[in-house]
Amino acid sequence: MTDLGPDASGPGGPGPGVSGPGRTGEPDVAAAAATAAAALAVWRAHVGPCVLLDGFHALKHALRFGAEVPVAVTSDRAGALALADELAPDVRGVLDGLLDQVPHGTYASLVARPHPTAVAALAVRPSRTANLRALARTPRRTPVVVLDQPRNLGNAGAVIRLAAGFGATGVVTTGTLDPWHPTVVRGGAGLHFATAVERLDVGELPPGPVFALDPEGEDIRALELPDDALLAFGSERSGLSRELRARADHLVALPMRPQVSSYNLATSVAMTLYHWSATGGVGHVA
Ligand SMILES: C[S@@+](CC[C@H](N)C(=O)[O-])C[C@H]1O[C@@H](n2cnc3c(N)ncnc32)[C@H](O)[C@@H]1O
Repeated sequence: MTDLGPDASGPGGPGPGVSGPGRTGEPDVAAAAATAAAALAVWRAHVGPCVLLDGFHALKHALRFGAEVPVAVTSDRAGALALADELAPDVRGVLDGLLDQVPHGTYASLVARPHPTAVAALAVRPSRTANLRALARTPRRTPVVVLDQPRNLGNAGAVIRLAAGFGATGVVTTGTLDPWHPTVVRGGAGLHFATAVERLDVGELPPGPVFALDPEGEDIRALELPDDALLAFGSERSGLSRELRARADHLVALPMRPQVSSYNLATSVAMTLYHWSATGGVGHVA
């Protein structure tokens, strides 16, 4: 994030919906510049501790799942509200009250790479304490996904999106990858707010039987995965760590023909969550 200046006459101009009508337009231009400057002041105040929501869809998901969003900007307010009419009427009113129009150059200065929807927002990260409480709560009605030392930020985001879609209790990562890294949040499409996402050591994992996915395990088709399971997956490079293997109660394999070494991490999570949901998990997605 670089220049945050309230560049009301910057690249792209004031944008649709803010320019004044001809000679009587001046007061509107001044009001638009004031709106943009005020939005940027709020942005600056929150950018450190908050999470960047990059694009309309991330903002839409975050709002649906109760995220606190102190500021949201766009260089195309009319376009964003038209998208809301079409795709997210449930949060259209909230977006109408929240989205401030800023010049395109100003919007672009807030994000690493402008999103086609030209929307960006900041959200308050859920408290670790609340997430740990959610992960530890028993009885657990839906599994926790454990990514053991994942390396790829895009995989982590895709897994969080899957976990949200299947209503999983949470996603825990071990190792050095930050599951709240902006690239992971971007990959997760704002769905970090729909499930509990935290980084923990193997020794701190929540209670519950660990079903660790490994090509050498027992065929998943012969198993029902319990609702309180921890479904653990190894790293892209080296598979399950020694610590995770030691904590595992079961090793489980996904069907795969000989000569194929392994599946991608996120697709392995997708197959496993689908298997859980299709084999009668009590809390499974309706
Ligand atoms: C890309 S794979 C890891 C490959 C790694 N080179 C290895 O030695 O295991 C990432 C993770 O996906 C899961 N996975 C991939 N294919 C699998 C399969 N056929 N059965 C069970 N788990 C699998 C495992 O948890 C694995 O650790």
